[in-house]
Amino acid sequence: MSKTICLLPGDGIGTEIVAQGRKALEAAAKRSGKELVFTEALIGGAAYDATGNPLPAQTVAACRAADAVFLGAVGGPKWDSLPPEKRPEKGILGIRKELGLFANLRPALLLPELAGACLLKPETAQKGLDLIVVRELTGDIYFGQPRGIEERNGVRTGYNTMLYSEEEIRRIARVGFETAMKRKKCVCSIDKSNVLETSRLWREIVSDVAKSYPEVELSHMYVDNAAMQLVRDPSQFDVLLTGNLFGDILSDEAAAITGSLGMLPSASMGSTAPALFEPIHGSAPDIAGQDKANPLATILSAAMLLRLGLDMPEEAACIEQAVSRALKDYRTADIMEEGKTLVGCERMGDIVAGYILG
Ligand code: IPM
Ligand code: MG
Repeated sequence: MSKTICLLPGDGIGTEIVAQGRKALEAAAKRSGKELVFTEALIGGAAYDATGNPLPAQTVAACRAADAVFLGAVGGPKWDSLPPEKRPEKGILGIRKELGLFANLRPALLLPELAGACLLKPETAQKGLDLIVVRELTGDIYFGQPRGIEERNGVRTGYNTMLYSEEEIRRIARVGFETAMKRKKCVCSIDKSNVLETSRLWREIVSDVAKSYPEVELSHMYVDNAAMQLVRDPSQFDVLLTGNLFGDILSDEAAAITGSLGMLPSASMGSTAPALFEPIHGSAPDIAGQDKANPLATILSAAMLLRLGLDMPEEAACIEQAVSRALKDYRTADIMEEGKTLVGCERMGDIVAGYILG
């Protein structure tokens, strides 16, 4: 039976990288004789330009009708002055909420091929880096009400609400512990419980959920310390369990220290399909349309899509192996090293697809 993937290229480099991700998916499916059907819908600035809405109803419907959703990136300076509900980011936040994608998995892995591009001191890099950020994705200050900008005592004042219910914390904590059970069985829960009530509840509930996972070692860390420890010695981490805001920040940091933001994939899952897969980086408007973007985070997101979204683990591994092989000789500008051949986005996509098939 064929599976349907809804493509949401979005803005900036989104179209270029999703095209390469699609090639990888098609190559992996072809190799194993499976059929994938692709649909496509508008999101972000592209959707706003065409319809006046960054998340048109047709897009939500197309995603719901698919077995998995594959997103590029949204946003750009062109839409920066729009009101919040029209901004491209609202498209991505909206689809996460609409599909109930509360769990965001962001693995940060330092591939041996990329050790030279890693920003860490060689002696720190040598210890390795293989962690995963399990980030809550549909709550927190991102969605909490009330929010706004209003005049208070004659002064314009902006406000947001950091908000987590016990149940929201419990369900993401379970994902964190389940993830750890398949890895090194260590969860480090991130909070700011020395200052925030939301974090105090977070710590309490996470500690409670931990009782059902006696094999998993749980530690707690303040987010500021975690930001520091990530650059000092990331090898100490296995699963970083975070709320929405802290996970947004720490996952960019985790990505950057592996060498490039252009390398890290992500999966956003709910309690029912479809899940959504996307690179963790943004739309990079400064290099859009120049064939310079690194498509590997998107191609690795395609592998996550096959493994977690369509239960095709062998095809997923095939894509990951092709990426490692491509990195031995070929690099996009962001991860270029001496002795390698510099290629553009499309060529990198072709090389990976070729290795998948061959
Ligand atoms: C991410 C992005 C989004 C977020 C933006 C585009 C709304 O930074 O996926 O990390 O903040 O979640
Ligand atoms: Mg982010």
